[in-house]
Amino acid sequence: MQRRDLPKTYRVKSYGCQMNVYDGERMGELLGEQGIAPATDGEDADMVVLNTCHIREKAAEKVYSDIGRLVKAGGERPPMIAVAGCVAQAEGEEIMARAPAVSMVVGPQAYHRLPEMIARAAGGERATDTDMPADAKFAALPKRRKSGPSAFLTVQEGCDKFCTYCVVPYTRGAEISRPFSDLLREAEKLVEAGAREITLLGQNVNAWTGEDRKGRPTGLDGLIRALADLPDLRRIRYTTSHPNDVTDGLIDAHGEVDKLMPYLHLPVQSGSDTVLKAMNRSHTAESYLHLLERFRAARPDIALSGDFIVGFPGESEADFEATLQLVDAVGYAQAYSFKYSPRPGTPASTMGGQVPPEVMDERLQRLQTAINRHQLAFNQASAGISCEVLVERHGRKPGQWIGKSPWLQSVFFEGDAKIGDMVRVTMAQGGPNSMAGTLLEPASI
Ligand code: 5AD
Ligand code: SF4
Repeated sequence: MQRRDLPKTYRVKSYGCQMNVYDGERMGELLGEQGIAPATDGEDADMVVLNTCHIREKAAEKVYSDIGRLVKAGGERPPMIAVAGCVAQAEGEEIMARAPAVSMVVGPQAYHRLPEMIARAAGGERATDTDMPADAKFAALPKRRKSGPSAFLTVQEGCDKFCTYCVVPYTRGAEISRPFSDLLREAEKLVEAGAREITLLGQNVNAWTGEDRKGRPTGLDGLIRALADLPDLRRIRYTTSHPNDVTDGLIDAHGEVDKLMPYLHLPVQSGSDTVLKAMNRSHTAESYLHLLERFRAARPDIALSGDFIVGFPGESEADFEATLQLVDAVGYAQAYSFKYSPRPGTPASTMGGQVPPEVMDERLQRLQTAINRHQLAFNQASAGISCEVLVERHGRKPGQWIGKSPWLQSVFFEGDAKIGDMVRVTMAQGGPNSMAGTLLEPASI
């Protein structure tokens, strides 16, 4: 590769999950500290970070087409290209071999080393770093200085569950928990910088463990209770959880900690015990439903969300119908559903009974229809409720604001407010995905 100037501007493009969004923000902060500024809208950046996702199909292909587009648009002066995230981790060497325009490949646990890689790239060298040091990254990142009203905070990374369809244990590695004191410090900085809500993130967030200020072992509920003591922090959320790591303490926290929002994202993946077993989920449909009952007993208004995969190898029509029954039994406020996508290197990718694509399409449609019906019912049942809304952004119409209800519904309203306010709003049903709201006076609470 040729020598080139150090970049002055950057753009990070994050695909996939909220943890990638968090990583993308942190990479931006790190580049900012190096004197590299975010490119303004419409401006060509000197450096582009493609922060990739590997969880489902075609992610890698998307990366190659993005690289091709950047090279073409750049003409004589293409940007310095970094491929980060889970595709970088899984396919780093192939990317280097196939895409000569890429200057560096950096895995999710190594992106704190971007500055030195940029210096090497400017010297004409290409670099790959997909090491997985346990927790060196966070210590090497700059302090948090900027935040919107709703911030992400990664508390846990990696996964030891090895669901048979999933690449995460391979791309993100073994479970690690960040230390309690580091998390409190980062949360304090985020709140100082304007965060009113913090969403704790982890591939398996409720597997987080640590030691509290007195050195006592504690779980996610202990961390939530400590964060709730920050006076200017108004709301706490967490995602994504695994049913087998739910503790009594976490359920109790939902009944006792006012700042912990009444919302739970608890993926189940399937309603069929045969499929759950083949997925290595180590819970049953019944144990999952029982767990939700306990959350509901602690916090009766809790909104429930989940993830589903249709067309897992061997899934029969009867298995799929068990999933539809589970959806009806739970009455989700919201849920995500995906077609099974064979991931290279995972046990499920070589299982017999792969489901034909047209069957997957049809099942996905039926599942989404069922989920939408429950989502609409949940929103209809919320009409008339007055609640606090955290104002996150401007709406499309002048004077219109968009914020979130405690149950994570998007609420549109008009009136005297500003971003970061907590306001009281009476909700009315808007569309299937949002609520219309009327601002109550006085606006600020
Ligand atoms: N195919 C389809 N969906 C998947 N997910 C994870 N791996 C796959 C796969 N191979 C879904 C699961 C998980 C969510 C983040 O992505 O539902 O909970
Ligand atoms: Fe993947 Fe299962 Fe771990 Fe979730 S719990 S990240 S689906 S292996």
